[in-house]
Amino acid sequence: MNRRSILWISKLVMAVDSKLIRRDFPIFERWSGRNPLIYLDNAATSQKPRAVIEAVSNYYELANANVHRSVHALAEQATELYESAREKVARFIGFADPSEVIFVRNTTEALNLVAQSFARPRLGPGDEIVVSVLNHHSNLVPWQQVAAQTGAELRAIPLTPDLQLDMQAAASLINGRTKVVAITHKSNVLGTIADTVSLTRMAKDVGAAVVIDAAQSVPSMPMNVIELDCDFLAFSGHKMLGPMGIGVLYARRALLEEMPPFLTGGEMVREVSLESATWDDPPLKFEAGTPNVAGAVGLAAAIDYLSAIGMDAIAEHERAMSAATWKRLTQVEGVRCFEPKGGSNGIVSFSLTGIHPHDVATALDSEGVAVRAGHHCAQPLHKTLGIAASVRASFYVYNDADDIEHLIDALRRAREFFGRASTGSSAAGSRPGKRVQ
Ligand SMILES: Cc1ncc(COP(=O)(O)O)c(C=O)c1O
Repeated sequence: MNRRSILWISKLVMAVDSKLIRRDFPIFERWSGRNPLIYLDNAATSQKPRAVIEAVSNYYELANANVHRSVHALAEQATELYESAREKVARFIGFADPSEVIFVRNTTEALNLVAQSFARPRLGPGDEIVVSVLNHHSNLVPWQQVAAQTGAELRAIPLTPDLQLDMQAAASLINGRTKVVAITHKSNVLGTIADTVSLTRMAKDVGAAVVIDAAQSVPSMPMNVIELDCDFLAFSGHKMLGPMGIGVLYARRALLEEMPPFLTGGEMVREVSLESATWDDPPLKFEAGTPNVAGAVGLAAAIDYLSAIGMDAIAEHERAMSAATWKRLTQVEGVRCFEPKGGSNGIVSFSLTGIHPHDVATALDSEGVAVRAGHHCAQPLHKTLGIAASVRASFYVYNDADDIEHLIDALRRAREFFGRASTGSSAAGSRPGKRVQ
């Protein structure tokens, strides 16, 4: 390991004290020793600090009851915890009205809710839904479905050669036929952050609704739905230190009032007869059945933890981590870097010439370095890049300069292990590592 480069990278990533933060995460104690866990798969899911784990277990030990139903003290406490979690989420995303915060399972469910309850009743032949080639499948397949159900058509904003959304193309794709613009705010492969201000303006100019998939951005940067001026915004608790199985859909109150429910059944109704039912007000209208109360409580604890670090500091830390990783990666033989212009905000995707990404990930794993290999639920993007799969290292608050050096060292050994014979056998492979832009 190169001491000078560690010092240099450390300077870049000092905004967040990752070493101190790491101590709050029991998983790093368990996976320590000769091959400590170098967890670089944060875009898939984050690890959980003790504060979140304890909030969930305390809830089950001390306050577990169903919510919005019974009058006993325990039920009232559970309801109070659940609703104060909703208020905390509303404040965290820019002081939204808590009734505009719907608890769902994850980003995927939130986007399906929007596609089916908002878009489906409004769309028909001749209408268009604008997505982008950056979109995660969760923000693409639900729109494909709704297009097939209604006769509407899908249009995709392409990428520029420097791996950013082509805003000129967007300006002509978003037109009088557009009814929905469904943007992935931060790409889970390239880390590119979409220019939501311009896209929202284009959408509003033609009266289209704006749907933002913020699964990667809410965990890593300050977000304000009022400033974004979006109609819908979706994210998952598990990518932001919170538990799995809890996610959020923010939606404008006026739209929620007009929209039919997504799921129906208990607790989302006001009056039920054998023939029909009337709906409760939002948000409960969209929360049929028993919700994930412990998940909401855990998410609230995660928000407290992230807020104590500061979302600006987290964004800066992620930018610095990816910038430092790109510099080091280009020194590794035969690396092809998918580095967008303007930075990749904590997400670094690359390939190693002549070695399948799954083999690279397996070799890294044997040294305790956890990365993801595959298409990362973004097959159209990989097709655009001309590859089937990539290796992705994604950083979060507990990662530091040492982790980058572990990654680089393990990659060098993988390169040696798989041999150099294939280096240079593809157009992408040349010494040293090559950037794709
Ligand atoms: C950009 C983006 N959108 C949506 C999702 C789907 O999130 P979930 O699996 O929590 O529904 C992910 C998950 O990786 C993502 O990165």
